[in-house]
Amino acid sequence: MDKFQIHGGRRLQGTVPIDGAKNAALPAMAMALLTSEPVTIENIPHVHDIVTMRRLLEHMRARVSPLEENPHAVTIQAAEISHAEAPYDLVKTMRASILTLGPLLARSGYARISLPGGCAIGARPVDLHIRALEQMGAQISLDHGYVEARAERLHGAEISFEKITVTGTENIMAAAALADGETVLTNAAREPEIEDCANLLNKMGAKIEDAGASTIRIQGVASLHGAIHTIIPDRIETGTFAVAAAITAGDLLLTHCNPDHIAAVIEKLSSCGVEFSADRAKPGELRVRAGSRLDGRDLTTEEYPGFATDMQAQYMALMTQAEGESEITETIFENRYLHASEMTRLGADISISGSQAVVRGPTPLIGARVIASDLRASACLVLAGLAASNTTSIDRVYHIDRGYECIEEKLRAVGADIERIK
Ligand code: UD1
Repeated sequence: MDKFQIHGGRRLQGTVPIDGAKNAALPAMAMALLTSEPVTIENIPHVHDIVTMRRLLEHMRARVSPLEENPHAVTIQAAEISHAEAPYDLVKTMRASILTLGPLLARSGYARISLPGGCAIGARPVDLHIRALEQMGAQISLDHGYVEARAERLHGAEISFEKITVTGTENIMAAAALADGETVLTNAAREPEIEDCANLLNKMGAKIEDAGASTIRIQGVASLHGAIHTIIPDRIETGTFAVAAAITAGDLLLTHCNPDHIAAVIEKLSSCGVEFSADRAKPGELRVRAGSRLDGRDLTTEEYPGFATDMQAQYMALMTQAEGESEITETIFENRYLHASEMTRLGADISISGSQAVVRGPTPLIGARVIASDLRASACLVLAGLAASNTTSIDRVYHIDRGYECIEEKLRAVGADIERIK
């Protein structure tokens, strides 16, 4: 298993290009199952979750061809669905495999998907996906750890999600796109990835209105066709590099990003003293500079447009270097502070009580050997390692490879001393 070795204390300065959003690319790839025609997706990040989704689609007998002229694009063609199953071995490494449930069921009338089970950051059930599909006429049973779903043809329904779910909203939008009649989703997720997914589906011939709002209307159509689509920039990678600038007293220009998608992060970090500037003449660019001081501020994670849970761990790393006490409240996942104990090993002063964490800063961080426990927890440890004195060694960086493309190369290019040890 690869490790990162970081010699911290270097100021980061330079330009960082942001990749396409993993969490928009994964649903986009799954949507290709809805048509027999080729769907080309551009701006796909080279991260391990994308490799897993590719394997899953190939397992379902779809053809996934990288484009020679564009290494960040693939064409997916699911000419026919002969194997509508997502096996445990793939699902256990990537919960987003559940995104194939809606498209498979709508296209072929059958899907058998392994239950994701528990994962490092909480129980994460899929009951809301299942209940919504049942409302649309699916017969669903649970058998030997698999969800087995059948429906001759799904029909439209009025679905009110009890809790906001991102992949749940995407799955049901996909199913409704090919259902008979109108589906209305209320309390839908409003993340930019939802709108991106709907834009792709609409290019494929779907009739989806108001994606990005909490009520979405979908008129089912008889069939969908091929399309070409470019994925939006990764807002979590953008936010992670913003914290990298702030925590190293640095100055980074982030390019190919969408600052509007991280408005909550910009607002929170600005209130701590981090400086942001965007030039209207250069959309897609955001400059982030550490300010003259860094103050601790409380944070509560929320669904979009609030501060994303996927940025909570990185924010915690920053707060260890801020003046005063900051209280963090995690409202989306019940067990998302696994990074805190590793941060303590680096010298952070953090106490956890249920969904709340209190960080007292600033504390000098001193390099140590630590273990990454999930994707964003690993980002937190990398950020802490950049700020720490001496050497930080991070085990199990396969977690970070799931969601960040070549993070060590991007960091090295702006002055970090970070090495991957194979
Ligand atoms: C997506 C993101 C993930 C992000 C999360 C929250 C992808 C591929 N992943 O995950 O990076 O951290 O949104 O922004 O886009 N829940 C249920 N029942 C369900 C579904 C969800 O109780 O059927 C609960 C979950 O346990 C969690 C909350 O709802 O507490 C939100 O989860 P959800 O939005 O579904 O997360 P994902 O879509 O899995």
